[in-house]
Amino acid sequence: MGNFGACRDVSILSVAPCGPEGAAHGCYLLELENPGLGPAAAGQFVMVRPERFGQNPIWPRPFSICRLTTRTLTLFVQACGRGTDILCGLAAGDKAALWGPLGQGFALEPEIPTVMLAGGVGIAPFVEYAATHPAPSNLSLVFGHRQPLSCYPFAAMAELVGRAEAFCEKTPDDLPVFIERLDAVVAGAASGLILACGPRPFLLTVARLARKYSARAQVSLENRMACGVGGCLGCVEKNALGAYVQTCTEGPVFWVEELALAEDA
Ligand SMILES: Cc1cc2nc3c(=O)[nH]c(=O)nc-3n(C[C@H](O)[C@H](O)[C@H](O)COP(=O)(O)OP(=O)(O)OC[C@H]3O[C@@H](n4cnc5c(N)ncnc54)[C@H](O)[C@@H]3O)c2cc1C
Ligand code: FES
Repeated sequence: MGNFGACRDVSILSVAPCGPEGAAHGCYLLELENPGLGPAAAGQFVMVRPERFGQNPIWPRPFSICRLTTRTLTLFVQACGRGTDILCGLAAGDKAALWGPLGQGFALEPEIPTVMLAGGVGIAPFVEYAATHPAPSNLSLVFGHRQPLSCYPFAAMAELVGRAEAFCEKTPDDLPVFIERLDAVVAGAASGLILACGPRPFLLTVARLARKYSARAQVSLENRMACGVGGCLGCVEKNALGAYVQTCTEGPVFWVEELALAEDA
C-alpha cells in the first residue's frame, strides 16, 4: 500500500523555462518550497493543486519528483492542457496544495548496471534517480524526445551518469530507428536492471523487449490520476492475472511481469 502523504500548503519559489527554447515548447522547471517531504524514492510523485486552479480544474495533477532537497522540490512540467498551462504560468509567491511523496519508486541496486530509458517528460524521475544513486557510473541513459534537447533536464544528468545518449524523433520515419536502438539496448542490458518512464506506447515497446530478452525491467506508468491516494479508481491498470491494480498506490512503478501491458491492447 502506498504512502498517502499529508496535504501541505507550499509557496512557489520560481518557475522558469527549461533552456533557451523551453518557453516556446512549453517546458518549465518549477521550484517549490519543500514543506518537509522526504525521504522519497526516485519514481515517487506528488499531487499538486495551485490556488490558481480556482474551480477549474477541480482535481490536482500528478508530477514525478524531479529533484528533492531538504529545502526545495523541483518539478519538470510540460504544458499540455488546462492544468499544466496554469502551472507553467505560476510565479514566485503563488501558493499550492501538495500531497506526497506518493506511490512506489524505482528499484535501487547500486552495484548492478542500470539502464534508464526515458521518453519525453519521463526523464523527470531519472534526474532524482541519478542525483541520489550511490554509484552513478553504473547508470546509463537512453532518452527519446521530440522537443529540442535543451528543453529537458538532460545535460546536467548526462554529466553524472556513466553513459548518456539522446535520440530526437523529428518525423514518423525516425520511430522505427529508435525502436531498433531500444531493442539493441535492452538486449545488451538484459542481465542488469532496466527502468523506463515515458508515454504509454514507449512503455509498451519496452515491456515487449523486456519479455523478448527476459530482462529485469520496471516501467513507470503515467496513467491519468484524480486523487493520487487510492480513493477514486481513476488510475487502474490491468495486471498480469487480469485483475485491476491502482497505479497511484501500487505503482506508478511496476515490474513488467506484474502487468498485462500489451502493444495490441
Ligand atoms: C505518476 C505521474 C507522474 C507524472 N510526471 C510528470 C512530470 O514529471 N512532468 C509532466 O509534465 N507530466 C507528468 N505527468 C503527466 C501530467 O500529470 C499530465 O500531463 C497532467 O496531469 C495533464 O493535466 P492538464 O490539466 O494539463 O491536461 P488535461 O487538460 O487534463 O488534458 C490535456 C491532454 O493531456 C492528456 N493527459 C492528461 N493526463 C495525462 C497523463 N497523466 N499522462 C499523459 N497525458 C495526460 C489528456 O489526455 C489530454 O490529451 C505525470 C503523470 C503521472 C501519473
Ligand atoms: S488516482 Fe485515485 S485511485 Fe488512483
